[in-house]
Amino acid sequence: MEFDNMNLTILNHPIIHHNLAVIRDKNSSCEIFRNALKRITYALVFEASKDLPTVEKEIETPLQKTNCKVFDSEAQLIIAPILRAGMIFSDVAQELLPFANVHHIGMYRDENTLEPVWYYDKKKEIKKNRKKVFVIILDPMLATGNSANDAIKNFIQKGVLEQNIIFMSLISSPEGIKKVNSNYKKVKIITASLDEKLDKKGYILPGLGDAGDRIYNTVD
Ligand code: URA
Repeated sequence: MEFDNMNLTILNHPIIHHNLAVIRDKNSSCEIFRNALKRITYALVFEASKDLPTVEKEIETPLQKTNCKVFDSEAQLIIAPILRAGMIFSDVAQELLPFANVHHIGMYRDENTLEPVWYYDKKKEIKKNRKKVFVIILDPMLATGNSANDAIKNFIQKGVLEQNIIFMSLISSPEGIKKVNSNYKKVKIITASLDEKLDKKGYILPGLGDAGDRIYNTVD
C-alpha cells in the first residue's frame, strides 16, 4: 500500500470508529460532536506521546521499594495547537501531559490560495538541549498539508529536531500526508482516519465539514 514505510500511524479501534461516525454525521449537535472528538483525543494523545523519554525512579510503596518509569524531567514537551480547531485537542493533551508548555499557533487558510496566513506565533528559539525538546502539533484536519508544513518548518527553524516533531490529526487526506512526508520524512503523523481525497476547495472527503465551525457551533 502506498503509505507503507511512512512515519504514519492510523488508529484502528472500535471506539475510534464509533466516535468517528458520530463526528462525521452532519446531524450531530455541537455538544455530541465535541464529546465524541474528546474521546478520540485521549487515544491520539496516548499514541502521540508513547516515545517521550522516561527515566527510572525508585518509589516506596506501602510494602517495599520498587523501580518505576517516570517522565524525564530534563526533557521539554511543547504542545502546539493550531488555532482555532486545534484547541479542542489541547485541553485533553494538557490534562494527560500537565508538564508540557502550550505554544499556540495562529494561522488561517486563505480560501483562494489555500495557503496558510500566520497571525500569532508564541514559540521562542530553542537554545539548548535540542535532543530533549519534543513538539506535538495539534490540528484536527490534515487537509492540503500547507499549514502542517509551515508549522513544522517554523519549529525546525527555531531549533527543534525534525525527528522530535509529531503531527497529530483527527482526519487526514492522502494529499496532506504525502505533502508532509515528502518534505519532512522524520516527522511522525498520528491520525484517527485516512480519508479518500480533497475536494476543489481543499476540504477532506468524506471528512466532517469545517472542523472549527463544528467545534465552536458557527455552522451557517
Ligand atoms: N479544514 C477543515 O476544517 N475541514 C476540512 O475538510 C479541511 C480543512
